Amino acid sequence: MDIKNILVTGRMYRDLERLALLDTKREYKFLPEAEVSPNHFDWADGYVAFKPTESFHFGGLRWVHALGAGVDAFLYNREWKKDVLLTRTVGSFGRKIGEYCLSYILADVQRHGDFRQYQSERHWLPSQQKLLQQLNIVIFGTGTIGMEVAKMLRTFGVTVYGISRSGASNCHFNRVLPITEVHPLLAQADWIINTLPLTQITERLFEKRLFSCMHGAGFINVGRGASVDENALLEAIERGQVRKAILDVFREEPLPSESPLWAHPNMAVTPHISAVTGLDEAMDGLLAVLREIDSGQERISYSVDVSRGY
Ligand code: GLV
Repeated sequence: MDIKNILVTGRMYRDLERLALLDTKREYKFLPEAEVSPNHFDWADGYVAFKPTESFHFGGLRWVHALGAGVDAFLYNREWKKDVLLTRTVGSFGRKIGEYCLSYILADVQRHGDFRQYQSERHWLPSQQKLLQQLNIVIFGTGTIGMEVAKMLRTFGVTVYGISRSGASNCHFNRVLPITEVHPLLAQADWIINTLPLTQITERLFEKRLFSCMHGAGFINVGRGASVDENALLEAIERGQVRKAILDVFREEPLPSESPLWAHPNMAVTPHISAVTGLDEAMDGLLAVLREIDSGQERISYSVDVSRGY
């Protein structure tokens, strides 16, 4: 495939201007989203961004590259044009998300919240903490992110179960089960981590019935907000099925100020920061894909299976 004109937009457009110096074979346009007009898509055969602009249409595009790991902004509830290649950034998202999860899990087993409270009351209250190796953690999603999170947790001796569509085994997990067999496992889970992409299948996957199988698990969502029924989660916390929730992604972002999630004592809310794309990884990922396209390689690494949505 011959890519000649690339349109780069979104929050990194200025930082990525260096691309034009590194890759002199092609023409580039670097624009803020608001300045991208429908005509630009007739000029461009390549589009690089976190999401489609309002003015997005396929025009002359033959390749779209997502600067994030998730591609739901391009595919979910949208039509994709056949034969347009979609690639994404892989970078260090798995490690970033792994450290995000680990920080909350460790703070929980080491009871940081309780000890801060006792300190403020000048209260001397010793206790024995659990070890990470006593924990069972269930990770939804065994792709690049889920796998990296599993790998990290297992170095601390955690027993890690993976949940995927097929249940195909994977050496980074103690065991992988198909989604259809997850229910009994949830009752023994200390933590449940969602890393799944948003697709028609994962939309509202975490709903009343699934939460009702949990017996006091912590729930971390680093996948997509729309995979969770937020009201069902609130109810599950009230019933003690979920002990606490750590949420980095939401159905609506930014999370509206009137949302009850902000002030809930058993919830931690972060503003979609568990894995923010860094400039170097964006640049490296993009150049690697361009090299593969130029070499005529048939199967491009990090290309998305559009029919599956990830
Ligand atoms: C972040 O959510 C991403 O998709 O990179």
